[in-house]
Amino acid sequence: MLSRTPPMGFNTWNTFGENINEDVIKETADAMVEKGLRDAGYEYLVIDDCWSERERDPETGKIVPDKVKFPNGMKAVSDYVHSKGLKFGMYSCAGTRTCADYPGSFDHEFLDAETFAEYGADFLKYDYCYKPQHYHGDLLYRRMGMALKACGREILFSACNWGCDDVHNWIRSTGAHMYRSTGDINDSFVSMRDIAVSQEDKLVYSAPGCFNDIDMLTIGMYGKGNVGSTGCDDTDYKTQFALWCIYSAPLMLGGDIRTFSDNILKLVTNKDLLRINQDEEARPAFEIRNQSHSKVFVKHLSNNEIAVLFVNYDDKTRKIELYMEDMGISAASGYGLKMREVFSGEELGVKKEYMSRNVPAHDCECFICTLSK
Ligand code: GAL
Repeated sequence: MLSRTPPMGFNTWNTFGENINEDVIKETADAMVEKGLRDAGYEYLVIDDCWSERERDPETGKIVPDKVKFPNGMKAVSDYVHSKGLKFGMYSCAGTRTCADYPGSFDHEFLDAETFAEYGADFLKYDYCYKPQHYHGDLLYRRMGMALKACGREILFSACNWGCDDVHNWIRSTGAHMYRSTGDINDSFVSMRDIAVSQEDKLVYSAPGCFNDIDMLTIGMYGKGNVGSTGCDDTDYKTQFALWCIYSAPLMLGGDIRTFSDNILKLVTNKDLLRINQDEEARPAFEIRNQSHSKVFVKHLSNNEIAVLFVNYDDKTRKIELYMEDMGISAASGYGLKMREVFSGEELGVKKEYMSRNVPAHDCECFICTLSK
């Protein structure tokens, strides 16, 4: 089964945009291995938009890789990625053209799926630009879903229609293994926060087999690259990662892995956070204490553990309160939570009935807890 837990990997778009080529992909593959990301679970290396020639081959009708960016073709790139123990991802679009105006797969779905299988692709991100108006999105995603089933290779199907057309109601039925449920992220705290807030009522739609994708992470970009914007600081990135993890979102790194600092690597390989993200039951987090400036999310994990995340979206320190009653632990039961903070390792002991934390601006605290008397 593909997508049993949220897919993890890297995608070129956030940092490189159209500036992709064979060397960038190979260097990124090397870095994923050398920096321990592959071993932490980041397995897909996905090439996003702008990889092909502007037009299909007039004779075969096939999409052709850009001859300057990828002089040895895509199979050579894919072979290199596979030789590093990673999986290889490609990109196309349900419309006639991709968002950056390269050939899309509309009416070429089966041919293109075969082409991606020939490249040795393991993943296909499938966008939504230039969709013919009179076609419904569900039919177009169904088509590529079928084409991927027919192509003779197991390919993870990553839909990307930005959360439009009530996609959460129909996307699982198309065969997709993950689907973008939001618009595009940019590298700012506001963008990350707005995406997270917009998904609070969508968390229940995400489950094994098909996960809600809230876009590639901007962690480590510091304002550079293709979706640079104002940039974030390390506190913002910490909160971004914790949110993506407790949301059970796919973890697709978008920063330039080749330049990741030890600090950033430590964050994105945090074992407790990855355990929360990759928990096999993939239960949706529920929200208690929902105030615009601060949130508390609770997620049941498979081994009777409970993840609790305190998030402060405000620009100043906030006292965030937790009433155990709100998460189903009655005062009369005598039970409380034995809490360990996953960034600092701090053990709080058993907290009963009520507790509060002073969380600095944009920061978060994330606990792995067990029920205890
Ligand atoms: C957008 C998509 C981005 C990126 C871009 C490429 O539609 O949401 O993630 O793939 O297209 O042009």
